[in-house]
Amino acid sequence: MLLHIPQVLSPAEVVDCRQRLNQAQWLDGRITAGSQSAKVKHNQQLPNDDEQAVAVRKVILAALEKNDLFFSAALPKRIFPPLFNRYSEGMTFGNHVDNAMRRITDTGEWVRSDLSATLFFSDPAEYDGGELVIEDTFGLHEVKLAAGDLILYPSSSLHRVEPITRGTRLASFMWLQSMVKDVGERGLLFDLDTSIRQIRAELGDTPTAVQLTGVYHNLLRKWGEI
Ligand code: NI
Repeated sequence: MLLHIPQVLSPAEVVDCRQRLNQAQWLDGRITAGSQSAKVKHNQQLPNDDEQAVAVRKVILAALEKNDLFFSAALPKRIFPPLFNRYSEGMTFGNHVDNAMRRITDTGEWVRSDLSATLFFSDPAEYDGGELVIEDTFGLHEVKLAAGDLILYPSSSLHRVEPITRGTRLASFMWLQSMVKDVGERGLLFDLDTSIRQIRAELGDTPTAVQLTGVYHNLLRKWGEI
């Protein structure tokens, strides 16, 4: 499942974060790449402890915490601290699958990447190329979103960032481990939750809505792990 989550960050937050990121010290992006992806990766990244990166990371995590759509779709158990990348003209990141397991440097905790997310900081009009291309069982999807918007996609999918032919593309990316490992079960829970929200909005908390909410939680209890 690919899910577009609009306006994770407000326009004011985007402006503030961009100012911070522009002041940061950018390095060669191969610092977080595995040996396969290092060969196809050509971009810039911020070191983990960069002061500006730390500040923007907090803004992103706080925004995700209050985003109901993100929670419903991802059911996040653990989020690998968001990283940042920058692509200028000629830069690209070829086809790869994200590493399955990553260790958070500060805490030593492991994160299994069930879902990957990209949060856009540049508007599509600011650059040409740079589409995030994701392959899944339904084919190829080209993603290029407004600044402040986020795309959530399975970490198991092959993906790439097309070469930039004009301008600069600034983004944050992250991986997360879901409370529900199985992509099919997670998708069913998301569909059920979405339907329940609609029923409650249209009809209120009817006995049927309450019963369905119970079904949702009992399935989450059955399939989820914390
Ligand atoms: Ni990737």
